[in-house]
Amino acid sequence: MNQHILFFEKLLANNCFSDEATRQQYSHDETEDIHRVPACVLKPSTVEEVSQILRYCNENKLPVTPIGARTGLSGGAIPLEQGVALSMERFNKILTIDEKNHQVITEPGVITQALQDTLKEKGLFYPPDPASKGSCFIGGNVSENSGGPKAVKYGVTKDYVLNLEVVLANGEVIWTGANVLKNATGYNLTQLIVGSEGTLGIVTKIVLKLLPHPTESLLLLVPFFSAEQACEAVAAIYQQGIIPSGLEFMERDALVWSQEFTQDYSIKIKENHQAHLLIELDGFNMDLLMSDCESIMTVLERFETDEVLFADSQAQKDKLWNLRRKVAEAVRSRSIYKEEDTVVPRFALPKLLTFIKSLEKDFGFKSVCYGHAGDGNLHVNIIKGDLSNEKWDKELTSVIRRLFEKVVELGGTISGEHGIGLVQKQYMDIAFNSAQLNLMKAIKQVFDPNDILNPGKIFND
Ligand code: MLT
Ligand code: ZN
Repeated sequence: MNQHILFFEKLLANNCFSDEATRQQYSHDETEDIHRVPACVLKPSTVEEVSQILRYCNENKLPVTPIGARTGLSGGAIPLEQGVALSMERFNKILTIDEKNHQVITEPGVITQALQDTLKEKGLFYPPDPASKGSCFIGGNVSENSGGPKAVKYGVTKDYVLNLEVVLANGEVIWTGANVLKNATGYNLTQLIVGSEGTLGIVTKIVLKLLPHPTESLLLLVPFFSAEQACEAVAAIYQQGIIPSGLEFMERDALVWSQEFTQDYSIKIKENHQAHLLIELDGFNMDLLMSDCESIMTVLERFETDEVLFADSQAQKDKLWNLRRKVAEAVRSRSIYKEEDTVVPRFALPKLLTFIKSLEKDFGFKSVCYGHAGDGNLHVNIIKGDLSNEKWDKELTSVIRRLFEKVVELGGTISGEHGIGLVQKQYMDIAFNSAQLNLMKAIKQVFDPNDILNPGKIFND
């Protein structure tokens, strides 16, 4: 490896790191406690540098893992032990805001919220807002096809990506499409790259479509006496013809743990509150939002709920969203856990929750569920708690397989927004048969015949 590091040092000068501290720092993302220490960390800042790195790695068959802000939850950005870690953090510029066409061209290392805030100043809206939006990179969002609460009305990352500049495994640089809203020209290379987790090419520029930024919003927190009923209410709201801009489910413990984690006890959770729905409406006309809100209240009358909290200030809205966004960190701080990112058609959500609770009884573990209920996207946290290491190690995989089989039986799939990466690849056979998997592997082979781009991810062999 030493002669390779000499090559990278010559190419990047001070932006090739092989010291222990940096290698340790880039050995993990937010996925459980997995660490793999790369041989070196490269921080290029131009497309030419990325191109030369890939050409060199391809010729020398060195594995390269692109790395964003390391906020991923499926291990997509965990490098190979002694591989090359390619950090995109110096690609941190918003290049062009095209107000006339409602588009932005950005580099991948821009923090998603910083991009959103800059656009908002111009009245423009980039909606996808993963929980980690304050620290994740837009490039990582493209790699994982990230979602977040607003996906329920506005769609996920893929719905905004118009065109990408990509460095291929052999160092060639291509644009995948055109900066247009409609495109029926050949295969859709842009959407093939979105969600491909750095296994097909390295994204160096991103063209996103934008919307006018909504000016009004309402936020409601609804306590339910039964978690299943909270899930049932989700589909009922849609059947009333309402499209909220956020419709989040939190099981009792998710909110209680988030309160403890954030030390924000401004919400009173009663003993018999089993779950909450956080419902947001947005738009440009407050009268219309109020009318939708009244319709939601009418729907809720069919369910057993306690008093609804209407956020009456921006500060209160921020507090409620903060409680929701901190659930994952709260769970992480509590116990060893395994998080699954299940997604089913919205109407099947109550059945999924009931099944999870029966699995809990069968296997004797605890689960905490929360997530983007309007999308049918439930984050299922399996908590180790007091379980013995032996039971945890022996039974966890069977529990997850049972869960995923049920998800697929309900018409869903095994990841809604966190990706497959390293930790879910062993379950891909539940979501896809061999014909489907072989097609995907053949695509990988065309893009990356030497298997240098983020090898060991998505596929189990
Ligand atoms: C969330 O919805 O909070 C995020 O997807 C993060 C997570 O579930 O771990
Ligand atoms: Zn989520």
